[in-house]
Amino acid sequence: MKQIKIETVLQVFDSLDELPVNIKSLMKKAVEARSKAYAPYSKFNVGTALLLDNGEVVLGNNQENASYPSGLCAERTAIYYAGAQYPQARILKMAITATSTHNPTTSPIPPCGACRQAIAEYEIKQKQPIEIYFMGESGSVAMSKSLENLLPFVFDKSAL
Ligand code: THU
Repeated sequence: MKQIKIETVLQVFDSLDELPVNIKSLMKKAVEARSKAYAPYSKFNVGTALLLDNGEVVLGNNQENASYPSGLCAERTAIYYAGAQYPQARILKMAITATSTHNPTTSPIPPCGACRQAIAEYEIKQKQPIEIYFMGESGSVAMSKSLENLLPFVFDKSAL
């Protein structure tokens, strides 16, 4: 028997103001997307902004449904839109922010497991890491240099 230890390293910025100017502006676009989320059931609004290598910025937000599982998270809305519209483009950076009407989000909100799996697919496809920044509505901003760091032991095509 051997034991495998996996380490996840995140960079944490104290606030939006500590971010490099281009990332701060990407996060502001995620905030804008967040304000347009359709989340009447959870009242938990999430916004995502993707910066592509062709210079495009793709926005996404969560889209809920009265049949709850039919809804989709902000991250997947954005990443699937990017995949559909710009199939050749690589995703360089991703900014995520979440807010809730019943619980102030003051610490970084990471992408859920299903979204991590979806983001992993694109990171593997493009053979280039995606830098991911995530936060609540205020407070610190966490950054992972790649999705791989957030989803070790990923399930990918090598298992098929
Ligand atoms: N949600 C996201 O948009 N992204 C995540 O990573 C976690 C959860 C959405 C789904 C649902 O509309 C609401 O937040 C509450 O789970």
